[in-house]
Amino acid sequence: MAVLPLVILPDPLLKQVSKPVTTVTPEIRKLAADMLDTMYDAPGIGLAAVQVGVPLRVVTVDLGKTDEERQPIVFLNPEIVWESDERGVYEEGCLSIPEFYEEVERPATVRVRYTDLDGKSREIEADGLMATCIQHEIDHLNGVLFIDHISKLKRDRCVKKFIKQAKERERGL
Ligand code: NI
Repeated sequence: MAVLPLVILPDPLLKQVSKPVTTVTPEIRKLAADMLDTMYDAPGIGLAAVQVGVPLRVVTVDLGKTDEERQPIVFLNPEIVWESDERGVYEEGCLSIPEFYEEVERPATVRVRYTDLDGKSREIEADGLMATCIQHEIDHLNGVLFIDHISKLKRDRCVKKFIKQAKERERGL
């Protein structure tokens, strides 16, 4: 159990396509547990392994609002097998792009196939916030960020701000 450091924009790792998990090893279980710790600590509702520097297709999600309501789900190799024509709009944020929020339109309902930590193949149908969250996280596995879904003008402005912040951090300002 550990809270891991988060990879922040414009780190090129965020553009990398993550590799599939082939076997559920103790290392994968530990990674998932550490990701949940990191996600709760942030706090956030979803996290992809690449955001803690591990480019593997592992995603954690928990939409529970309080410690008592926790409902963690660990998705290994998640893929969207069906999406609705109906679209939904949510204001999204990302732990790798702190304090930046924009509305993103995505399919309102999706069916996701994934492997669980017991190595069992599963499918869930997600709508509402869950649909947005899982699509956002699967995007991460493909090197795509939610700002890739907003206007170029807004995206350029956001990236510029984070490049400036990263330079300031390097200089210790
Ligand atoms: Ni994100």
